[in-house]
Amino acid sequence: MLNTPTILVTGGAGFIGSHLVRRLVNRYPQHHLLNLDKLTYAGNLANLQDVESAPNYTFVRGDILDGDLLADLFVKYPITGVIHLAAESHVDRSIAQPMAFIETNIVGTVTLLNAARHAWGDDLADKRFYHISTDEVYGSLGDTGLFTEHTPYDPRSPYSASKASSDHLVRAYYHTYGLPVLLSNCSNNYGPYQFPEKLIPLMINNIRQGKPLPVYGDGLYTRDWLWVEDHAEAIDLIFHQGKFGETYNIGGNNEWTNIDLVRLLCDLVDEQLGRPVGQSQGLITFVKDRPGHDRRYAIDATKIRTELGWEPSIQAGEGFRKTVQWYLHNPEWLANVTSGAYQQYYEKQYAGGR
Ligand code: NAD
Ligand code: TYD
Repeated sequence: MLNTPTILVTGGAGFIGSHLVRRLVNRYPQHHLLNLDKLTYAGNLANLQDVESAPNYTFVRGDILDGDLLADLFVKYPITGVIHLAAESHVDRSIAQPMAFIETNIVGTVTLLNAARHAWGDDLADKRFYHISTDEVYGSLGDTGLFTEHTPYDPRSPYSASKASSDHLVRAYYHTYGLPVLLSNCSNNYGPYQFPEKLIPLMINNIRQGKPLPVYGDGLYTRDWLWVEDHAEAIDLIFHQGKFGETYNIGGNNEWTNIDLVRLLCDLVDEQLGRPVGQSQGLITFVKDRPGHDRRYAIDATKIRTELGWEPSIQAGEGFRKTVQWYLHNPEWLANVTSGAYQQYYEKQYAGGR
């Protein structure tokens, strides 16, 4: 693999990263896929068991803040592309502990940009640096309207502010240094392997166990939900066909208020577990709102549809059903990530660093 053109994916052991890595390893056997991940609480190599022994795949445990490690990787492997997903990604954690978001999302992104820039120098002919971002940088919508690529940035949580900052820095490296960059801003993803601190897996896990379902505020906050494999497909397309210096909005055209979605999840779990449908809705508990809670996100994905021919592949009902089925069939995965057992395992397995 030392001479094979290499795509460096950061954060490939996380939720979206693992779906992307699986897709790229299987679709591009002529490319080497190098997955750099720190394995924070959100990173889990069990997400990638089916590709871990593929000949074109290498995992490196490491931190994007470690400039020396990044420089070594660029020397060791002929890295022609970077797809950067590594991030602290949970809004509630960013409210409780903002510094980790500043460090990884902002300083980590600049460290990675610097490593690519120094390694590639003026030899940029076949190079690309793709930064994965979120629609949360655009702020909060009212009852109408959609985020386009021209919507002004208005981030309102430490998470979204850190992602907005990283987006600006990536664009600055394009304009200032000519680094060939690509960006995309995506709506909320759902599907297998999402850490159960995020709405959908958290609710499925609690419904399964008959625990209270904490709905923030009035429950009328709205998100545009996208099947995670559709996001991975969009990333693949943009990486290979996107225009440098541009951003692409990616969305599911699939808006749900949180309360409607939680009710649907209750019914899907009841149905799949053979409980009386409607029973689990009794677990819904309205709790104190998230500070600075963005009311509504919704994406206008016209650009990626017309320029690259991408559209979401599955309907919401089918996607939510498949998601519920996956979590109910993988209780050991849920138990591992919630108990922290897998983290202890990796601490032991990778003791002493790289
Ligand atoms: P995640 O939290 O599931 O995974 C993040 C991964 O990054 C983990 O594997 C973690 O170990 C790794 N990581 C964290 N800090 C690191 C560091 N300092 N060095 C190396 N690795 C580190 O996140 P996700 O939901 O898969 O999101 C991936 C990316 O997509 C993020 O950049 C996020 O902002 C963006 N995004 C997510 C969504 C969503 O709905 N989940 C939507 C739009 C954009
Ligand atoms: P989340 O999955 O954290 O994604 P984001 O905040 O990045 O959109 O939350 C999705 C929505 O669900 C958001 O409006 C907050 C709400 N929510 C709850 O009502 N209860 C919960 O326990 C969680 C985790 C989220």
